[in-house]
Amino acid sequence: MTKVIDDPLEVEQAYARQYENLSREFSRVIQSKRGILAEIGCGRGQLTIPVARLLPHCRFRVVDTFAGAYTGTLRLLNKALLQARLKNRVKVYKADYLAWLWDQYSDSYAGVVSSEFLPEIDSYELSMFLSECYRVVRPGGITVHSFLSPIARNHRQRLMIEADSNPKWTKTPPKEWFSPKPALVVSQLRRAGFRNIHTEKIKSNLIIKGDAVRSFLHSWDVRDAFWRRYRLRLVTGGLEVPDWVIVSGRRETSYRSKSRLRERKMGGR
Ligand SMILES: C[S@@+](CC[C@H](N)C(=O)[O-])C[C@H]1O[C@@H](n2cnc3c(N)ncnc32)[C@H](O)[C@@H]1O
Repeated sequence: MTKVIDDPLEVEQAYARQYENLSREFSRVIQSKRGILAEIGCGRGQLTIPVARLLPHCRFRVVDTFAGAYTGTLRLLNKALLQARLKNRVKVYKADYLAWLWDQYSDSYAGVVSSEFLPEIDSYELSMFLSECYRVVRPGGITVHSFLSPIARNHRQRLMIEADSNPKWTKTPPKEWFSPKPALVVSQLRRAGFRNIHTEKIKSNLIIKGDAVRSFLHSWDVRDAFWRRYRLRLVTGGLEVPDWVIVSGRRETSYRSKSRLRERKMGGR
């Protein structure tokens, strides 16, 4: 059921519920009950905390630069981890994702995950990132990435994508996209070596309008000029959070990849 928020004080809670829904899907897809999960671009732990609660026997290494527009999130993350009593299971690294991944041993993680991190990089980085995910994940391990769909289903979603990606409106324009197309992520996962690739969509069912829009746009670094330009539409119709896309892929166990190789060789004779 669609939720319409017009009270600025309710936006944060409504957004937290989005992450609770997402985290249920992550924990279902991850399956692994133990082991270490790495999260790239953890921010203030929007996904980390609900996922860690659902996977009480996993340990987490979470990575973020906590820089630029995100300066200050490290303090919020530490506070949230303390409140959730997760300090002992979640280790925080302040680092660039690629430098950090290069430092990790091969085959050592049960999984590498991210949420809303792919919007931060471009197509060249996406390919390097997913290759590194494949290298550090152990055979049988998983990678899961969620992001807001770049494909709008209606004018409210289109307006939200426009606000967050057009340099005319946003103070922090993306490098290449609002989010990558799901099909691109799928093809890059396959190229990196992942198999058993799945894409899922969860409707946000969240409309933000009236007074709540202005504070929401402010928190997303959108200029006031956007508000002035679309005021009537924002007040009456509002913005809708696009659908969440969750793309996952598994690294085959060595047994499965050996038998696949054998099949290929036999077929080639
Ligand atoms: C949109 S936020 C997502 C935060 C959170 N995961 C969520 O789902 O809301 C993107 C995060 O990626 C981080 N980030 C951007 N570039 C990065 C890089 N090169 N290395 C590590 N983290 C980076 C930012 O600091 C920010 O916290």
